[in-house]
Amino acid sequence: MPNYDSILPYVRANEIKNSNYVGKEVRLRGWVYRLRKQKENAFVLIRDDRGGIIQSIFPLKIAAHLTIESSVEVVGTVQYDKRAPEGSYEIRGREIKIFNIADNTFPIGEYQSLELLLDNRHLALRSRKMIEIAKIRNSVLKFARDWFIKNDWMEVTPPNIVKAAVEGGSTLFRLKYFDEHAYLSQSAQLYLEAMIFCLGPVWSITSSFRAEKSRTIRHLAEFSHLEAEAPWVGLEDILKIQEQLISYVIQNTVDERSDSFSFLNRDIHTLKKVQLPFKRLTYEHAIEVLSSRRVQVSDPEEQKRTIRLGDDLNIDSERELTKDTSKPIFIIGYPIEVKPFYVKEDPIHKGRGLAADLLAPEGFGEISSGGEREEDINSIKRKMEKEGLNPESYGWYLDLRKYGSVPHGGFGLGIERLVRWMVNADDIKDTVLFPRTMSRVTP
Ligand code: 4AD
Ligand code: MG
Repeated sequence: MPNYDSILPYVRANEIKNSNYVGKEVRLRGWVYRLRKQKENAFVLIRDDRGGIIQSIFPLKIAAHLTIESSVEVVGTVQYDKRAPEGSYEIRGREIKIFNIADNTFPIGEYQSLELLLDNRHLALRSRKMIEIAKIRNSVLKFARDWFIKNDWMEVTPPNIVKAAVEGGSTLFRLKYFDEHAYLSQSAQLYLEAMIFCLGPVWSITSSFRAEKSRTIRHLAEFSHLEAEAPWVGLEDILKIQEQLISYVIQNTVDERSDSFSFLNRDIHTLKKVQLPFKRLTYEHAIEVLSSRRVQVSDPEEQKRTIRLGDDLNIDSERELTKDTSKPIFIIGYPIEVKPFYVKEDPIHKGRGLAADLLAPEGFGEISSGGEREEDINSIKRKMEKEGLNPESYGWYLDLRKYGSVPHGGFGLGIERLVRWMVNADDIKDTVLFPRTMSRVTP
């Protein structure tokens, strides 16, 4: 058995790539990332447990049995060599301890089909692209939480198993719940609305579930949903909260993860421009722009025609509105008909909702939706019926309008949508380690 006790504390690759370490002995743990065996020496690239990579060189006789993805601990001396890959520092190895010699069947090589990579996601997530995106995602979550803490919002943990729809019945996942049925939550909003009465401004990150029956590059069946809700706020406040939160998250993440963005070839100058205030466009104005550019939508008979007032914005419209911009755009005042039952009608411009979607620039489109909530219990019931929802299933929610209702509002932001834009990923599946889609629930 190898002896796992450390004598030297073990270090990570990027820590030791500097002149202070040259000549010093180090101990590094990781996995064999690349391997080149020559007559006398083996060149072993090690990937540490945070994706840092450094070359080590061993006499062939002690490294001959290594395979790709074997887990090892190497002990050796740091040296500078301009030719060394991954940053000109390398380890002249003295000793290798083996944790596990990997089967030589590791399925991931350099050129692989997307499907194979997804089938082997549990292994493919060791790739550098996945690692760097995961680091960025980690920073996004960290700075979002940081912003809420600094601004005195309460973090809460609403349930994921629920009895009713928030975002329409067609994308609900139904499950057997003891002797009755329940659903996986589409949004924590209704629960957050209940909490503002006793906790004030609240926020949560939960998994939200949508049985999206289309394969798209921006829909997942399970996504990380950041939602916030507060009493005594209006639409304008909701927009400001989102602007501040999102620009805080982006600026800090860009600073903290500049190496990750550069590995991903993401130009951070565009992200640096995401400063306050964001752009704003009324729904009417957006339709004007889109119809002048002849953007097409399908009407219920699946006929293609040019977009007009009353239509919801689809992905093509959102791309068209944002393709040449570098700042996010709020689209404000959607027709009340295209928005869910909880959206409050604008008392001045009847027929419009006090709601806004935030579209990410560079063609990415919607990343959040929010606004003021309807307070009038009868109008909520009417709208529920119109949406084919049974108000009786919403007894507890309707109670909130009976007992001390106050003007309030909130929003929901899709973390994967935000990260997809930040890292400029083609497909939303790249932003999550184990994507869930219509055609994929393993690994
Ligand atoms: O626009 P949505 O459906 O709004 C709500 O759920 C509100 N109840 C939120 C609230 O006000 N508390 O979802 C909010 C955001 C979207 O803008 C999008 O970013 C993301 O959640 N989202 C998805 N992300 C990935 N895959 C999906 N299938 C998504 N559906 C929504
Ligand atoms: Mg939306």
